[in-house]
Amino acid sequence: MINYDITPIAGACGAEIHGMDLSRDLDEEAVDAIRAALLDHLVVFFPDQTLTPDQQIAFGQRFGELDIDRFVVPMEGHPEMMVLIKEPDETVNFARIWHSDVTFQERPAMGSILYAVEVPPYGGDTMWANEYLAYDALSAGMKKLLGGLRAVHSARGGYGKAVLNKRYDQTKRSMKIYRDRDHIAEQEVTHPVVRTHPETGRKALYVNGAYTERFEGMTAEESKPILQYLYQHSIRPEFTCRFRWTQGAVAFWDNRAAMHYPINDYHGSRREMRRITICGDQPA
Ligand SMILES: [Fe+2]
Repeated sequence: MINYDITPIAGACGAEIHGMDLSRDLDEEAVDAIRAALLDHLVVFFPDQTLTPDQQIAFGQRFGELDIDRFVVPMEGHPEMMVLIKEPDETVNFARIWHSDVTFQERPAMGSILYAVEVPPYGGDTMWANEYLAYDALSAGMKKLLGGLRAVHSARGGYGKAVLNKRYDQTKRSMKIYRDRDHIAEQEVTHPVVRTHPETGRKALYVNGAYTERFEGMTAEESKPILQYLYQHSIRPEFTCRFRWTQGAVAFWDNRAAMHYPINDYHGSRREMRRITICGDQPA
């Protein structure tokens, strides 16, 4: 029997879970409780953890198979582990647009687990947005329109030919990405614009400014006004929560119904995070 408590940090999403040590072998009851809290709150936080890369990986594997990122060079010896570093003299942070992880994949991530190794004294918070609420708040007419649409996603904007050299200069940046995979970034997949969550059955808005390019069967120009509206709408403050990181904190979020945004307001300080990503299913 575990003794833990769950405290929401905002009305829309996000809850802290106290009383669990993620470095230990969690029993089924604890894993079930975390999964239930994730479905309820979309992102759960575990402050004051101490995790080796192997322990973080073992924790993630309790929730599914881990994804290996195709673009970011992983931690040596740990292909599942992404190390996100911003040095004090760097100005660009990783994935600095509201997004859900790896929606350019046929099967985007179910969840992501981020562990804070080193955090700035202030700044560097992350925000999440509840896309069930974003969908629910749309008009009946807009829901009907979007319900019949699929959208094209690709990694082109982050890792494609046009941006690769400019954004990821290997000599300057602490985060390394593969140089020879820009052709993979050009691949396109389509996902429904409104996604039905496979576990809760609820509908969530499922487009993001990082990887969504256009509606299927429409040009980018035709799609842009509605997509721009949806990007604005999907991150209304009342749909969000904001987490202030402390060293050792872990965040575990559900990419199927939440988006996130890393705030880049800590120039001059170092930040180091470790991320693993849990494989998901094909959006329906
Ligand atoms: Fe992300």
